[in-house]
Amino acid sequence: MATSSTQAVPDTRDIPEHVAIIMDGNGRWATRRLLPRTAGHAKGVQAVRRVVEACGRAGVRYLTLFAFSSENWRRPAEEVSLLMRLFVQALEREVGKLEEQGVRLHVIGDLSAFEPRLQELIFAAQERTAHNDRLHLTVAANYGGRWDILQATRAMLAAEPGLAAQPQRVDEERLSRHLSMAWAPEPDLFIRTGGEQRISNFLIWQMAYAEFYFTDRFWPDFGAAELQAAFDWYRTRERRFGRTSAQLGEDGAQ
Ligand code: IPE
Ligand code: IPE
Ligand code: MG
Repeated sequence: MATSSTQAVPDTRDIPEHVAIIMDGNGRWATRRLLPRTAGHAKGVQAVRRVVEACGRAGVRYLTLFAFSSENWRRPAEEVSLLMRLFVQALEREVGKLEEQGVRLHVIGDLSAFEPRLQELIFAAQERTAHNDRLHLTVAANYGGRWDILQATRAMLAAEPGLAAQPQRVDEERLSRHLSMAWAPEPDLFIRTGGEQRISNFLIWQMAYAEFYFTDRFWPDFGAAELQAAFDWYRTRERRFGRTSAQLGEDGAQ
């Protein structure tokens, strides 16, 4: 079980152990070039490849990418179906490479909404890379932070039906065991490209103490250099987890 940042002060390092990214700005990148929004999504896949490689090289252990939110179904049907096609294509083409690079793929979100072929590809890709441990790449698809907390609550009650009559036994540890990423440490660094400064229902529970980095750069233009800039900024942050600055310098303080 990974350390909870609200239960104990986690160990931190200069390079974030877990990076979570909202890959935003694909549509605007394309519109500025008088291209259809979908061209931006296609270009965005290349940025994913660059960032996965750069994270692997930098020693990041967990990279979590928001690919499709539970609210993105509200988009025009053609855009949604292109995004699904890109997802299928990426799984077909990239999984071999991920396996060679030591990447373990996880997909989180309510997968039951996807067509059976996509679900099968997801399960096969997870299985094929399950032996890897160098970099855990988690793709959040049809994911919502509120959905995650609700599904965890339901799973907890299903596992321990007696809990409903003893609500005082429900604590953070008991619930968080059932969250989608219970196996991973909480994100250290959150990056959002595209200029918006909001969380858009991403990992709302897990990012209680993440450092938030925003850049105006659109996702298709994001790469190793931009990632390095985010890491350089991260290194300057003082992660206090509720303590004072003076306490951080004291012997024994982490
Ligand atoms: C992010 O880019 C990709 C997805 C949400 C799938 P957008 O498509 O949101 O791009 P903008 O924000 O409209 O520019
Ligand atoms: C968040 O981006 C979701 C993904 C990147 C998958 P959106 O572009 O959908 O977020 P909002 O609608 O601007 O908040
Ligand atoms: Mg957007």
